[in-house]
Amino acid sequence: GKVAVMFGGSSAEREVSLKSGQAVLDALKTAGVDAHGFDPADRPLTQLVEQGFERVLIMLHGRGGEDGSLQGALQQLGIAYSGSGVLGSALSMDKIRTKWIWQALGLPTAEYQVVDKSSFDAGSGADIIAALGGTVMVKPAREGSSIGMAKVTTADELSVAVQEAFKYDNQVLLEQYIQGEEYTVSLLGERVLPSIRMHTPRTFYDYEAKYQASTTQYHCPSGLTPETEQQLADLAVQAFAAVNGCGWGRVDFMRDQHGRFYLLEVNTVPGMTKKSLVPMAARVAGLSFEQLALEILSTTDR
Ligand code: DAL
Ligand code: MG
Repeated sequence: GKVAVMFGGSSAEREVSLKSGQAVLDALKTAGVDAHGFDPADRPLTQLVEQGFERVLIMLHGRGGEDGSLQGALQQLGIAYSGSGVLGSALSMDKIRTKWIWQALGLPTAEYQVVDKSSFDAGSGADIIAALGGTVMVKPAREGSSIGMAKVTTADELSVAVQEAFKYDNQVLLEQYIQGEEYTVSLLGERVLPSIRMHTPRTFYDYEAKYQASTTQYHCPSGLTPETEQQLADLAVQAFAAVNGCGWGRVDFMRDQHGRFYLLEVNTVPGMTKKSLVPMAARVAGLSFEQLALEILSTTDR
């Protein structure tokens, strides 16, 4: 049957989604799938039904595509879709509630505080920074691609960064910065793909490091011993299952100087651009981009 690749959308990650979606659409067409692009920013979802689409491959990042609302709407329309369901999508979009669940299960994640737009006291910055070890990552609770994020070490910087983050969300996560290296693990159906280690000379792996800078280094295989790679894979699977993730996704980590891993977040519609991580890990595992796109499409069968 006819497949819609949904991409674009109206979240802050629209530009990333346009690239991810076009790449996946091209790959499915090359593989002979009757696939068509569908941008929900341009037309109502009911057109999916009117035009006879049976399945949707969701390649929308961020709110309105990755947060469970689209998943719920498609379910009501009786259209099969890729990846996580309503609950897994909604929880994974929210970095704060994701951490609450991981903590309840004893899974490792960095120290943090939560601030609300309605009650944030700018005078508390110095105490927060001291409580969180001196360097703090400021993150809108429900964003992607590092949009609205900052790394701060002073009360003034924290106050500016929190106000900026409030432009994206009413709740902001203040997280202890883990000095060390960033890793990511991609999950595809039952398989765990090889981890990737990212290194950037920038202050952190921000939007520019992710999509624009030529200085970002990616290591895959990441150089972990087989035992540590397995430990990381197991953590990724547990972390994904904890938030009810399904089908495919990517779990991000920091590793401190003592070799301890800390869970950062889950992405239920990870990037599929030329610079993105899941295609990189798939390639190392012997899967072409086309095979990867077909496997993601196959997650619509559940
Ligand atoms: N949020 C971006 C698309 C990612 O996780 O790759
Ligand atoms: Mg993310």
